[in-house]
Amino acid sequence: MSLIDQIDKQKVPQHIAIIMDGNGRWAKQQGENRIYGHYEGVNSVRAVVEACGEVGVKYVTLYAFSTENWNRPKEEVDALMELLVSTISAETPELNKKNVRLQAIGNLESLPPACLEELNESISITSKNTGLTLVLALSYSSKWELLTAVQQIAKDVQNGLMQADEITEKHVQNYLCTKNIPDPELMIRTSGEHRISNFLLWQLAYAEFYFTEKFWPDFRKNDLFEAILNYQNRERRFGKTSEQLTPSK
Ligand code: IPE
Ligand code: IPE
Ligand code: MG
Repeated sequence: MSLIDQIDKQKVPQHIAIIMDGNGRWAKQQGENRIYGHYEGVNSVRAVVEACGEVGVKYVTLYAFSTENWNRPKEEVDALMELLVSTISAETPELNKKNVRLQAIGNLESLPPACLEELNESISITSKNTGLTLVLALSYSSKWELLTAVQQIAKDVQNGLMQADEITEKHVQNYLCTKNIPDPELMIRTSGEHRISNFLLWQLAYAEFYFTEKFWPDFRKNDLFEAILNYQNRERRFGKTSEQLTPSK
């Protein structure tokens, strides 16, 4: 049976978050420069978006550029920003055709104006689509996001909108970039690195983590299906005991 047929369609995670890592090492293995790896990574993005649509995932968040990535060599940062613009503009018709809605999270104002413009245009063009929501994390870091939320909540308290001890999880959530997006149930990181690299710290509080040795440009539909199958074989206890979840055991 093919991998996709083994997936229980009733238990597909509604939100998958992916740290797309290993482009540079992949390129180096081919004797190419790092930027070649980023270009090849776009094919994996296309495959994953398609695969998510096929199994009914509702949201996929792709970590495309972190706050810390601004510290990379200028040529690489410039190439990544150019790639972002060209990819978004080239892929928008295809996103529309596939009924995919594009969104973005992060400190978007820090992106080059051309990049932000292209992004906003594509977000607006695809805003009415009702299938998969593709969320790009750009110039994103979780500590930046949480800090911004704390500052805004502090202002609300200062302005008398609420008392400090009235702050709830819901308030925090409402000030995150992901306020209208459910938390991911599954987080995938490629390239054999086992860390979170400042990604969705709050939102991943109870996510299942899946790590693969594959570099991002080698990641394809079946790799996503394998991750989903692995996820489906886990017991998510949320602090309870196994017996509480399946009392007949
Ligand atoms: C992930 O691949 C893409 C970005 C961070 C933009 P890397 O560029 O981190 O590739 P490695 O980890 O150096 O191989
Ligand atoms: C995380 O990958 C960021 C993205 C995938 C965009 P990095 O390659 O930048 O993370 P570290 O440096 O290995 O933690
Ligand atoms: Mg990396």
